[in-house]
Amino acid sequence: MTVLVTGGAGYIGSHVVRLLQQQGRKVLVIDNLSSGVQERIGEAVLVPLDLAAESATERLTALMAEHGVDSVIHFAARKQVGESVLKPEWYFEQNIGGMAHLLDAMKNSDVRKLVFSSSAATYGIPTEDYVGEDYDCKPINPYGQTKLIGEWMVANAERAWGLRGANLRYFNVAGAGWPDLADTAVMNLVPIVFAALRDGKAPVVFGSDYPTPDGSCVRDYVHVLDLAEAHIAALDYLERENRKHATFNVGSGKGSSVFEVLAEIKKVSGIDFETDVQDRRAGDPPYLCANVSRIKDELGWVAKHDLHDIIQSAWDAQN
Ligand code: WQD
Repeated sequence: MTVLVTGGAGYIGSHVVRLLQQQGRKVLVIDNLSSGVQERIGEAVLVPLDLAAESATERLTALMAEHGVDSVIHFAARKQVGESVLKPEWYFEQNIGGMAHLLDAMKNSDVRKLVFSSSAATYGIPTEDYVGEDYDCKPINPYGQTKLIGEWMVANAERAWGLRGANLRYFNVAGAGWPDLADTAVMNLVPIVFAALRDGKAPVVFGSDYPTPDGSCVRDYVHVLDLAEAHIAALDYLERENRKHATFNVGSGKGSSVFEVLAEIKKVSGIDFETDVQDRRAGDPPYLCANVSRIKDELGWVAKHDLHDIIQSAWDAQN
């Protein structure tokens, strides 16, 4: 049987595709290549398809039958927080519309296993430093709202027609499982700092006056390979009858501050760069770290790589 991976040509999706291929599983990739890269997915079949398009449900239903799809891992979505604030209607059309078409096609095809790429952005600005899945989510931007609504859609499908869903709330993903699968988007701290160093500029720190040990924001960085492994574990979990939960944090369970990340980049790169400390960035919580006890207890998954591994693998992949 085949696993359909939407967004499988993306940074995270391609790591999951490669693990599935290494397991000898058949993979069908759906990707509109707006940010995905076909070279990342090797021999996997790639069908360019926009999940938000009117015709998507019909095309997906036909593809699921043609390829004998029995499970889906859903990555394809718009994921820039700032862009979502500027274009909220488009984000809902793309992320919620795409999800609705995918679920419709799965229902039509009696495909009942779905791993959904959710996000720590569902939490908004939590009052707990290490937040657990039962926290009362209040996303503060349209991107995070679309991810929380996606989780609600999974729950609705479970009740209405027996979907088996697993929602994975990613914390801060970085690193490279293989050099050719590096994150080529410059949208998050580690690639942004690398780009600044390449341009001979001082990396910017958004705020050093937070109520944290060194004044900079603390996040939970997780290696993309560990995150990919969590998707395989979630797919296996969906085979089980007695599933207690649908939603899982995927993080290291350890917080690292911006200054600590920069210090690790100095060590790995050998470049003793200056930093440009600026004002806080709107919407940044002081802490956003994962309580990871549920995924450990239920799926037996724990992050194997530490911050050094993450930075080293990202640095090696870009050189
Ligand atoms: C990390 C920290 C910045 C750039 C994002 C998405 C979220 C989720 C995880 C997908 C923050 C600081 C950053 C810079 C800096 N992704 N920073 N200088 O905002 O924690 O979360 O990734 O689901 O949806 O929003 O990640 O990498 O933007 O920032 O000081 O040049 O680094 O203020 O504290 P964030 P980030």
